[in-house]
Amino acid sequence: MVSYFEEKKLCELTDNNLGTCVLEDKEIVFANGVLAERLGYSVSELIHKEIGIFVHPQDRERLYEALQVVSSSAESMFIPLRILSKNSGIFCMALTLNNLMFRGKPATLVNFLDIETLKEIQKEAENELFKLQKAIFEAIPHAIMGLENRKVIFANNAVYDIFGWHPEELIGKSMRLLFHSDREYEEEGKKFYSVLKKLKTHRIEFTYRRKDGTDVTCLTSVSRIGDDPDNMRIVATHTDITRMKKIQHECDVLHDQLCMYTDHLHDMVERERSMIAQEMHDKIGQTLTILKMNLFKLKKDIAPQEEDIRKRFELTLSLVDSTIRSMRNLAAYLRPILLDDLGLIAAVEWLLEEFQYATGLDVELNYHPIFKHVEFSKKFSTNLYRILQESLTNIVRHANATKVWVKMHYKRGTVMLTVRDNGCGINTKKIDKSRTFGIIGMKERANLLGGKLWVRNWHASAPGIGGAIVVAHIPISKEKERQ
Ligand SMILES: Nc1ncnc2c1ncn2[C@@H]1O[C@H](COP(=O)(O)OP(=O)(O)OP(=O)(O)O)[C@@H](O)[C@H]1O
Ligand SMILES: [Mg+2]
Repeated sequence: MVSYFEEKKLCELTDNNLGTCVLEDKEIVFANGVLAERLGYSVSELIHKEIGIFVHPQDRERLYEALQVVSSSAESMFIPLRILSKNSGIFCMALTLNNLMFRGKPATLVNFLDIETLKEIQKEAENELFKLQKAIFEAIPHAIMGLENRKVIFANNAVYDIFGWHPEELIGKSMRLLFHSDREYEEEGKKFYSVLKKLKTHRIEFTYRRKDGTDVTCLTSVSRIGDDPDNMRIVATHTDITRMKKIQHECDVLHDQLCMYTDHLHDMVERERSMIAQEMHDKIGQTLTILKMNLFKLKKDIAPQEEDIRKRFELTLSLVDSTIRSMRNLAAYLRPILLDDLGLIAAVEWLLEEFQYATGLDVELNYHPIFKHVEFSKKFSTNLYRILQESLTNIVRHANATKVWVKMHYKRGTVMLTVRDNGCGINTKKIDKSRTFGIIGMKERANLLGGKLWVRNWHASAPGIGGAIVVAHIPISKEKERQ
C-alpha cells in the first residue's frame, strides 16, 4: 500500500531508536540521525548515496531484488542483511521495505532493525504467546494429554478433576495407569493406533479407571500430531460424560417402562371395549329384539278403531329399531367384530364404508395384495385400525375436505399406511402449541409396533393445496403368512 508522507511527519515518526531512510530507486533521499550514527556517517554524508554501498557485496543483489518486488507489487518486505559501517565493520540488521510517496514521488521507506533487538522482540512475543497458550490450556475444562508411544508428555490441570491424577504424576508415565488391565490397555491401544493410521482424528466413548479405582466414562477425541501416519505422537482430550451416560441410561429405562405401560394400557382399553361391545351386543341387543317382537305381537291385538294407540305403537317400534341400530354402531365402533373375525382389510373396508355413508365424503382405498394373505397379529391389526380411525376423525373435525385417499402399501418388510385428504391442511404451529392427544396417540401406537408416524401437509410450502397426510411406516417381519 502506498503511503503519503511529508518530510516533517517522517522526521517525527522516525524520531526513535529506529534507523530509517527513504530511497528513490536505490538512492538515499532521506535518512534519520539514528541510521547515520549506526552507519558511522553524518546525515548529509548519506544523502544521494546509493544504498548498496552500505550493504555487504554478497547481499546487495538480494536487496535490489527485494526493492524491485516492493516497488512493483506494493507488498511490504522483511529481509536480514549484512550491513557495512564506517567504524565497526560488518553487522547484521533486519530491513523492512515499504512503498510510500515522498516529495510527490514514489519511493521506498526502509527501517533498519538490529537483529539483537529483533530477537528480543521475538522472544518477548513468544513469552506472551506461551503464557496465553498456558492460560488457555489450563482454562479448558477437558483433560488434555500429549502422548508419545503411549507415554504422557504433557497434561493440563483438568486431568486431576477427571482421572484423580495430578499432571506431574502422569507426565513420563504410561497410559496403562488409566486402564483396568494389561489386556484392555493392549487391545484399546491397537484399535486406536490402527484407526489413527488411516484418520487424523478419532473419537470414542470409553470407561477409564481413576486413581482411586472408580470408573469414569469419557468422550475421548484423539488427533495425530503432524501428517506422518507412523508418527505415534498424539493429543487426546477427554470429556467426562459419566453423569450424562447415567442420566441417559435412566431415561432409556424410563422410556422402556413408559412404552410397556402404554402398551399395557392400550391392551386394557381394547379388552374393556371388547367386553362392553360384547355385553351390548349380547345382552342389550337381545333384550331389545325381544322387546321389539313383543311389541309386534301386541300391535296385532289392537282393535281397528284404536287408531291412536296403533300410531303410538308404530312410533315406539321405530324408536326400538333406531336404538338397535345405534347400539350396533356403537358396539362396532368400540370393537369391530370384523377385525377379530375376518381380519384387518375387511374391518378397514367396513370402517370406510360407514365413514363415507355418515359424512358424505368420497373415500378411495388402495391396498397391497399382501394384506389379503398375511394374518396380522391382534396387536398390529388393532393399532393400525385405531390409527386409521383417528385420522378419519381428524379429517371430519378439522379438514373441511371432500375426498380422502387411504393407501396400505408394503415394501421390503414394512407396511406403509397413508391417509390423505384434500382439505385445508394443518397449521403446524398450532399443533406444536396445542395440548391435544390424537396425533400423540397415533405416534405412540406406531411406536409400539416398532414403527414411526408423521403428520404433515401434502405440500410443505402451501398448506392449503393438497390437504394433510398421515404417514405410518411399520415393520412386519414378525407377522406370519396365512399360507
Ligand atoms: N386432517 C387434518 N386437517 C387439518 N388439520 C388437522 C388434521 N388433522 C389434525 N389437524 C390439526 O392438528 C391438531 C391436532 O390433532 P389431534 O388429533 O392431536 O387433536 P384434536 O383432534 O384437536 O383433539 P383430540 O385430542 O380430541 O384428538 C388439530 O387440532 C388440528 O388443528
Ligand atoms: Mg384428533
